[in-house]
Amino acid sequence: MNSLNSPARRNRSEWLLAAMFVLVAAAAIGVAWGNYRRSVEWFETTKLEEKLTALKLVEAFVGTYTDYRMRHLAKGAPVPATFRAHSIDLFNKKNTSLNALRIEWLGIPGREIAIAPRDPDTIDALSEAARTRDAAPISHWRIAGGETFFRTISPSVATQAACVECHNQHLNGRPAWALNDVMGAFVIDVPADRFLAEALRDAVAIGCLVFLIGVAVLAAAVFRLQYQRRHAAVAAAIAAERERAAVEAKDAAEAANRAKSEFLALMSHELRTPLNAINGFSEVIAKELFGSISERYRGYANDIHQSGKHLLTVIGDILEIAKADAGRLELVEETAHLNDIVVPCLKTLAGRAMAGGVHLDAADRPDVLVTGDITKLRQILLNLVSNAVKFTPPGGSATVRAGLDRDGALRLVVEDTGIGIADYDLQRVLRPFEQIESQFQRKHEGTGLGLPLAKVLTELHGGTLELASTPGEGTRVTVILPATRIRLRETKSAANERTDPPISALARA
Ligand code: HEC
Repeated sequence: MNSLNSPARRNRSEWLLAAMFVLVAAAAIGVAWGNYRRSVEWFETTKLEEKLTALKLVEAFVGTYTDYRMRHLAKGAPVPATFRAHSIDLFNKKNTSLNALRIEWLGIPGREIAIAPRDPDTIDALSEAARTRDAAPISHWRIAGGETFFRTISPSVATQAACVECHNQHLNGRPAWALNDVMGAFVIDVPADRFLAEALRDAVAIGCLVFLIGVAVLAAAVFRLQYQRRHAAVAAAIAAERERAAVEAKDAAEAANRAKSEFLALMSHELRTPLNAINGFSEVIAKELFGSISERYRGYANDIHQSGKHLLTVIGDILEIAKADAGRLELVEETAHLNDIVVPCLKTLAGRAMAGGVHLDAADRPDVLVTGDITKLRQILLNLVSNAVKFTPPGGSATVRAGLDRDGALRLVVEDTGIGIADYDLQRVLRPFEQIESQFQRKHEGTGLGLPLAKVLTELHGGTLELASTPGEGTRVTVILPATRIRLRETKSAANERTDPPISALARA
């Protein structure tokens, strides 16, 4: 029950929580790093574009100057290269802001006219470009003097014969230039310290935000889970308590019922012994076996004997119900023809019916074999028919019918045109030991146990007993025995040979 808080479970959830936490942290770092990377990439592409634009500007400007010099100025004006070099120098000096581009115009190491590259990276890059005559711009990050730059090297190619011609005048014994040689390069630096710091700061901020949101979501999930767990634990505890109480109540009720049944069984047994003596001796007295007695005494003795016999049946019924309640009533299973159940019952009651002016009728019955406790099945029918006879006024009728349901179950119906039972009593008469307050009940002596016992015995056979009644019109009791207990008699001829005496003959017998 306390598995909710078991150490294993707690341990596991703690691990899970730690794993989720790590996951959130990783996600935050991932997002931050991705953001930083994207910023740097953006910086590289935009700055490269800016640089190439600046170079085009320089070229256009110098081109215009060259034209102008050719047409209007004397040879005394500075050559375009010198003019360009000076312009770049001026540009750098004017642009003093920290983030401003810085342009240098460098020659190939060892072959330069004015400015040679100084740092090893650039020397290598330029030598390589000159060797392969590759004019594609090269970009890389550089750290120098405690500062970080984004550097682009854009090679200058001898596109015209003039480049070669003029530069070859400044050889000083070095190898001559040819067309399409890379003669040097513009080297453009963009200081990036400030940008990188800002990008880093932004990335960290975004990472922190993601981390905080993740942790908040995680915390919310954990709280919700804990709440649900606690809620479930409380609900489970309440349910368990309720179930325990229900089981206890049921046990108590069963124990009480068992005790009652055991007590009744015991009492019935204890009562029977003296009652047998009373019955036996009263009969002896009534029959004057040991000498004659007065008419009056004989009458009394007869009454004692009759009452005793009645009491004995009552006790017998009580004992049966009590046994059934205590689960101690067992069936002695055997198989008999339906007639062996119905006919003896009709025989027993035919006389009583005649005496009461009740027309006892037995309609057609199916030709079936019934498996069950035959004695008890007879008792069921006897109880029902005797009730029917007892509660039907003279001139009325009581009928026993039997038929097979479509599923093969046997339907035994006992119907009368008697006084009937009111709706509100229908269920009560089926329960043992509930006396119905009715003038008829009191008038017609009876134990009131006939119906409940019939019901108990029917149910013991896996069947059901249904009661339908209209006061003043009659009562119909239906006993349904399950199909498993019913079998059609195999030989048809046997059925035809069956010779049932008519009920009137039984009554006369
Ligand atoms: C009229 C002569 C002349 C012509 C034409 C000329 N240059 Fe130059 N070039 C120079 C001089 C002079 C310098 C040095 C400028 C300075 O620092 O004052 C120079 C510098 C350079 C530099 C800088 C590196 C170094 O060696 O000092 C490169 C690169 C360069 N020229 C490439 C070219 C290319 C490419 C062409 C053709 C489009 C060209 N030049 C046309 C005279 C010329």
